[in-house]
Amino acid sequence: MNARNGGDNCFQSPKQRKALQQLESRLAKIYTERGAYELALRRLIEVAHRRYKDRSPELKKLDAQRAENPTWFCGNQLMAYSTYVDKFGRDLEGVRQKVDWLLELGVNYLHLLPFLKMRPGKSDGGFAVENFLEIEPSLGNHQQLESLGKELRENGISLCSDLVLNHVADTHEWATKARNGDPSAQAFFYWKTHEEACRLEESLAQIFPQTAPGNFVYIPETGKYVWSTFYQYQWDLNYSNPEVLASMADNMLGLANLGVEVFRLDSAAFLWKRAGTNCMNQPECHWLLQCFRAMVDLVAPGVLLKAEAIVPTAELPPYFGLNEDEGRECHLAYQSSLMAGAWFSLANQNTQLLRKQINEMPEMPSGSNWICYIRCHDDIGWNVLKPEIDSAQHAQLKFASAFFGGQMAGSYANGLTFQANSPDAVHGTNGMLSDLVGWKYPDDLSGYSRYKLMLSLIFSLGGIPMIYMGDELAQPNAPSTAEDQARWVDSRDLHRPAFNDLARHQVTEEPDSRAARAFRLIKHLRQIQKSELTAINTSALQIIDTGLDSLLVFHHEDKICLFNFSAQSLILNKSRLNASGKTLRDLIEGRFFDLDEMLIEPYDSLWLIRYDASNS
Ligand code: GLC
Repeated sequence: MNARNGGDNCFQSPKQRKALQQLESRLAKIYTERGAYELALRRLIEVAHRRYKDRSPELKKLDAQRAENPTWFCGNQLMAYSTYVDKFGRDLEGVRQKVDWLLELGVNYLHLLPFLKMRPGKSDGGFAVENFLEIEPSLGNHQQLESLGKELRENGISLCSDLVLNHVADTHEWATKARNGDPSAQAFFYWKTHEEACRLEESLAQIFPQTAPGNFVYIPETGKYVWSTFYQYQWDLNYSNPEVLASMADNMLGLANLGVEVFRLDSAAFLWKRAGTNCMNQPECHWLLQCFRAMVDLVAPGVLLKAEAIVPTAELPPYFGLNEDEGRECHLAYQSSLMAGAWFSLANQNTQLLRKQINEMPEMPSGSNWICYIRCHDDIGWNVLKPEIDSAQHAQLKFASAFFGGQMAGSYANGLTFQANSPDAVHGTNGMLSDLVGWKYPDDLSGYSRYKLMLSLIFSLGGIPMIYMGDELAQPNAPSTAEDQARWVDSRDLHRPAFNDLARHQVTEEPDSRAARAFRLIKHLRQIQKSELTAINTSALQIIDTGLDSLLVFHHEDKICLFNFSAQSLILNKSRLNASGKTLRDLIEGRFFDLDEMLIEPYDSLWLIRYDASNS
C-alpha cells in the first residue's frame, strides 16, 4: 500500500488525478518537513477513500450532473437566502416546512447558519462548534438534515452550511482532552507563554474588543495561553499540524455526504499564523484552502466552497485561485466592500467611493462568483473600506458609522454601534435593513425608496444576490429591552429576530402592509434580474459618469442601472446616458422617460432600457 492510492485506488479519472496532484503539491508547500508531508498525504488519502465510498449514489449523480454544467452557480442563476435555523423554522423540520416560502420568493440557494452541535450556553450563534458531525440536538438530527437536503434538492435549492474552519468550541473533544494534558490533542492548538502572547498581540487586530479583548486566553490546567482570535471559548486550530487538516477535511466531507452542497468557509482568512503579521491572508492560508478544494474535487466534485473572507476587494481574488491556481480554491466569495460601500454612499449621499469600487473591480477567474448582499447576520464592518478610501473620506467613514449606529440626531436610521477598541475607532453597525434605511410605515415613500435602492443595487451587480432572513418582510430589529440585551451574545443580536409568521400572512392578506410591499419588491426584482440582468460578473459593469455626485449609474450590458443616493430630486439630461431623443423605460416600475430632461426622484432606483414602441 502506498500513501497515494491507499491500496485500492478509486481515483482514476483525469479530473481526480489532477485533484490528487494538486493535493500533493499544496501539501508539499505547506508541510516542508518530509515526515509531516507524508503524514498529511496519507491521512488525507485515507479520508478521501472512506468518504468517497460513503457517498450515496444520489449525491454522486448530482456530482455528475454538475460536472456537465460546471458554471451552474455563475452569472445570475442563483438567488441566496441566509438564516439561522431556530429563528426561521425553530428546527430543521420547521425549515423543511418553509421550503414553499423560499420557492415563492425565488430562492434557490439556502444558507443555514451553524446548526451543528454547539457549545452549551454562549456559542457565538453556533460558531463555537462542539462536534462537526452531530446536529445541535435542539435543532434536529441527521435524518432531519438529510430529509431537508432531499426536499431542497428536489425543489432545485442548494443547501449551504457553515464550516467553521478556524476554531472549535472550548468544549470540543480536542479542547477537553488538551486541557486534560493529552499531548496529541494539545497539538491541535497554539500554546503561548505570557511574553509570547504579548509580542504577538502587537501586530494582531481585535475582533471583539469589548466582549472578547485580546487574542489569547490563559488556561490554568496547562499553565499556558491558547490562541483564540474570536471569543475566549473559540480556540484557533493549528493547521501546521497535518492531523488538523485531515480531521477538518474529514468533517467537511462527512457533511457533504449528508447533502450539504455549499460550504461557507467561516473566517477563512485566519487559518495560518505568522508572527509579526496580522495573521490574515497568509500564503499558507490559500494553500490550505486549495487542499480543501482538492478534497472536494476528488470526493464530492458537485460541492462548492465559499470564502467568508471579510477583507478589502484587492485581497479577495486570491481566494478564487489566481494564475496557475485558477479554479483551484473557492468558487464563491462575499463582496463585503461593496456592501459597506453602499451604506457609506447612502449616509454621505455621495457615490464617489462606489463608482471607484466598481471601476476598479478585479476581473474574476471563470468558474467563480460573488455573493452580493446588503445585510447579513454580522455587523456592517466599516474597516474593510479603510484601504479603499482616501484620507479626506475618513471623516465620512466615521460619519456613516455614527449615522447608522444611532449616534446622530436627525438620522432616519435606527441601528446600534458594534464594539470598537478605542473611542476613536470606527464602530461597526448593527440593525435590520428596514430599520437602517428608516422605512417606518407602509406609505413612507423615502423609507421605501431607500429600501428599494439598497436591494435593487445588490440585484444589479452581476453576482448572487443574498437576502437575509426577515428582510423579505421588512422585519424590524429584534426587541432590545435591557432584559433582551442581557441574553444577547453581543449587539449583533439586534438584527437576529425570529421570523414573523404574522407578517408572512400579511403578504397575502394585507397587500398594502410593509411586509407585503417588501416581499413583492424582492420577488419582482429577482424575476426581472433573472431575465434581463445577465452580465456574468461585476467587473463587466461599466460606470457612466453623469457629473452628479449622488448618482451611481452603470451599464449592465444593454441596460442602464441608475441609483440616486441622495434625498434630493435631480434633473439628468439623457445626453449623459448617450440616449438623447430616446424613450427609456424603467424595468422595475414600468415608468417611461420620454423627455430628454429626466426627473430623478430622491433615493430613486431605475433599471432602464431603450424603449422602442414598434417592438414593445
Ligand atoms: C464569522 C461569522 C461571525 C462569527 C465569527 C467567528 O465572521 O460570520 O458571526 O462571530 O466568524 O466564528
